[in-house]
Amino acid sequence: MKQTKLVIVAASLTALLSGSVMAQNAFNDADKAVEYRQKAFSVMQNNFAAMGAMVRGDAPFDAAIFAARATDFAAMTTIPWPAFETAGAKPGNNSDALAAIWSNWADFTQRAEKLQADAQALAEVAAAGIEADSRKAFMAAARNCKACHDQYKD
Ligand code: HEC
Repeated sequence: MKQTKLVIVAASLTALLSGSVMAQNAFNDADKAVEYRQKAFSVMQNNFAAMGAMVRGDAPFDAAIFAARATDFAAMTTIPWPAFETAGAKPGNNSDALAAIWSNWADFTQRAEKLQADAQALAEVAAAGIEADSRKAFMAAARNCKACHDQYKD
């Protein structure tokens, strides 16, 4: 019995992985790619806003919560970018991405990398739990958002 089940599982896995039944996904379908990167930006923003509330004084500074949000923020900053490389995932697909991204690809990529580096630095600083340092690192990370959106987001 067990043997039969295993064979069936293996067969379905093979079918799943074979090109013949390959589902459309964020890495081969333009609409799904746009949705994927927008969701990633959205989760990134949720974590960023939670820290922002503490930085602005709208919420009391809590080092542990700030550090947790900084860690998840840093993780999310790595997610959106591959979905900009999916064929056809350009303006027009419910996307706010501007065509300038693909004509200034090196600059766009550099900005994406800077965001990730600043977010990683923020997560490391936040882990130490010192409010003034966390605040400063947050502001440094925040500068990346508007700078890129001004150039590349509708
Ligand atoms: C390297 C460029 C770049 C950087 C840096 C960047 N963004 Fe964006 N962001 C974009 C682009 C391009 C879009 C539009 C994506 C689309 O609609 O296809 C976007 C979209 C968004 C969206 C909308 C997502 C949705 O639901 O449609 C949010 C929210 C967002 N960014 C937040 C941020 C925050 C917060 C930061 C900084 C911590 C940031 N972004 C940094 C390029 C960037």
